[in-house]
Amino acid sequence: MSSTTEYLSLVHRPRRLRRTPSLRSMVRETQLTVNDLIYPVFVMEGENQQEEISSMPGIYRYTLDLLLKEIAEAAGLGINAIALFPLIATDKKDNAGTESYNPDGLVQRTVRAIKQEIPEITVITDVALDPFSTYGHDGIVEDGIILNDETVEVLVKQSISQAEAGADIVAPSDMMDGRIGAIRKGLDAAGYFDVGILAYSAKYASAYYGPFRDALESAPQFGDKQTYQMNPANSREAIKEVALDIAEGADIVMVKPALAYLDIICRIKEYTNLPVAAYNVSGEYAMVKAAAQKGWIDEKKVVLETLTSMKRAGADLILTYFAKQVALMLQ
Ligand code: PBG
Repeated sequence: MSSTTEYLSLVHRPRRLRRTPSLRSMVRETQLTVNDLIYPVFVMEGENQQEEISSMPGIYRYTLDLLLKEIAEAAGLGINAIALFPLIATDKKDNAGTESYNPDGLVQRTVRAIKQEIPEITVITDVALDPFSTYGHDGIVEDGIILNDETVEVLVKQSISQAEAGADIVAPSDMMDGRIGAIRKGLDAAGYFDVGILAYSAKYASAYYGPFRDALESAPQFGDKQTYQMNPANSREAIKEVALDIAEGADIVMVKPALAYLDIICRIKEYTNLPVAAYNVSGEYAMVKAAAQKGWIDEKKVVLETLTSMKRAGADLILTYFAKQVALMLQ
């Protein structure tokens, strides 16, 4: 201390609580844990093959045998849940996405195998037509328009077929109106009362999905998804969507993407007592990986800071391609 300093007469000096690691740890408000993480994975047909997704370094499409190893590894790291996405062969795609409810389809076979080999992990299946659609849209197309109610009928069949295969939670990511209520009714009528619904409630028409569409070869063949996914400029509309999904029977509501929508996560967390999920999407993953590969950022620190910010905003659960990496860091 210098004798020439004139000390400020401050009652509060916030830095007192930042002085040592133990003090900082005592007043920490948000803690990211492995329990919060859901690991999205990609499956493809075949045997003993894995293909790296060029826009998602470190993330692969796996054939079922190798996917089981990957999931067992994730479970070994303490990860509770996976979200499954399939790469469907072009000759199996059609306008109505009929392959989506084939009892022996890729998703159904994969779910059955996971439930048999790694029963402790929660399996979440994606409900939407885009991986199965010739047009790469989330619904049935007629004259360039995405049909709503006709699509919902298919989504109900898809959900029941996933539940029948053993899915713990179905996750409609399609943004058709009324699909949560219809799926709940369909699941209950088929006896699947205990299969939950994770609703992609506030899903925005986002450019951050680009790498994911590379992974599934599911980019829209015409137009974009703005007639069903939300306008990134809107926030009150997210509450409207969440309110509808809750009324229709959602068990968990989700905001997607996450990083550019932290305000939406925060608003929804204040609005509902349901668990809130956030999807740290493919484009968010790709940006971090690309900058890290260039040596421009410290990857580990940026990943932890980013996911912690999602929890701080109010996310109870985070879907992230970093799940395994983070689980390791948190050990
Ligand atoms: C499609 C679906 C998408 C994602 C999950 N489900 C893409 C889309 O809506 O076009 C994106 C996930 C990601 O980018 O990581 N129903």
